[in-house]
Amino acid sequence: MKFPGVLRSKLPKQGTTIFTVMSGLAREHGAVNLSQGFPDFSIPSRLVELTHSFMNRGFNQYSPMQGVLGLREKLAEKVEELYSAKYDSETEITITAGGTQAIYTAISAFVTEGDEVIIFEPAYDCYVPAIQIHGGTPAYVQMNLSGELIDWEKVKRLINQRTRMIIINTPHNPSGRVMNAQDMAKLQKLTDGTDIIILSDEVYEHIIFDGFEHQSVARFPKLAERSIIVSSFGKTYHNTGWKMGHVMAPANLMKEFRKVHQFNVFSVNTPAQHALAEFLNDKEHYLELGAFYQEKRDTFNRLLQGSNFKIRASEGTYFQLLDYSAISDEKDTDYAIRLTKEVGVASIPVSVFYHEKNEDKFLRFCFAKEDETLEKAAEKLMKL
Ligand SMILES: Cc1ncc(COP(=O)(O)O)c(C=O)c1O
Repeated sequence: MKFPGVLRSKLPKQGTTIFTVMSGLAREHGAVNLSQGFPDFSIPSRLVELTHSFMNRGFNQYSPMQGVLGLREKLAEKVEELYSAKYDSETEITITAGGTQAIYTAISAFVTEGDEVIIFEPAYDCYVPAIQIHGGTPAYVQMNLSGELIDWEKVKRLINQRTRMIIINTPHNPSGRVMNAQDMAKLQKLTDGTDIIILSDEVYEHIIFDGFEHQSVARFPKLAERSIIVSSFGKTYHNTGWKMGHVMAPANLMKEFRKVHQFNVFSVNTPAQHALAEFLNDKEHYLELGAFYQEKRDTFNRLLQGSNFKIRASEGTYFQLLDYSAISDEKDTDYAIRLTKEVGVASIPVSVFYHEKNEDKFLRFCFAKEDETLEKAAEKLMKL
């Protein structure tokens, strides 16, 4: 069938996301799939048992719009313990259907026609469409992936009366880089005295390596008071398919966030919220997540030692960039497709995270995989 009228697309240039494309290609060609970011190992069995038990005990109806209070209380305790920040579980924390919904809702609540939103590139792919759907315009700052990450002078030059929001993401997907305390101090200085809202995508907050400490905006009171923090249980508990997350923000920002949230999702999965509330008592799980993934990163990079890829070890997230410039001159999109079809390893070409043509020669590989999967992939990559 086909709609017979004039179809006015709100996103005329938007295609299917690269993650769907590459995962489909990986399946079609039987390639080892290190493209889309999801673990290929089990989630903690106790989390499954808890969810099952809450379902059996009848926790199957709508939860409160803002989320199950017990879960919000646990999250308030956690953020205070980790970052010495106080968030009111009643008014400043909301449970969402993953990070993506949280980001969309935050943009929807605050960005309107004529607003500008500063985005750092390479940028995770859900920010820009959400801005454009609401009539906003992205203002781009290119990051330096192999040196000092952000040139804050460039950011300063972009800020004007129309700047409504700045979106940051640390640990950063796809680069695997992290922002440091100086970055946060500079961001604080630049936004001080303005009406700018910071949307801080911290979904990989626990996946950080080599002794780096996650610089949540929650640690910096002057930043926290203008920030909406986005978190994802999916990244922390290996259960990306549950699509569970949460946001934290000052009460007056949260009030506006919830005005939209109540109509685009209302509330999210009830038994999962109860189970997560209980599972949060297992602090070791998230406190040891960095070490767990650091070992995966090290395994992957060790397996690739002596290969023709140039590697700068990922500082956080479960992604590793590989520079293939010594192997091929091909565009990264072409090379990623050829690698999937002919070599049997699927990855994500980093140029798709830029709005303009980008000649960098980086592919992003997800190492949230069983060692056996990483070994299979590395064996193939070593031949290049
Ligand atoms: C940087 C970043 N932000 C947000 C998300 C979305 O999180 P969720 O899967 O909870 O929607 C992802 C998921 O890959 C991500 O990498």
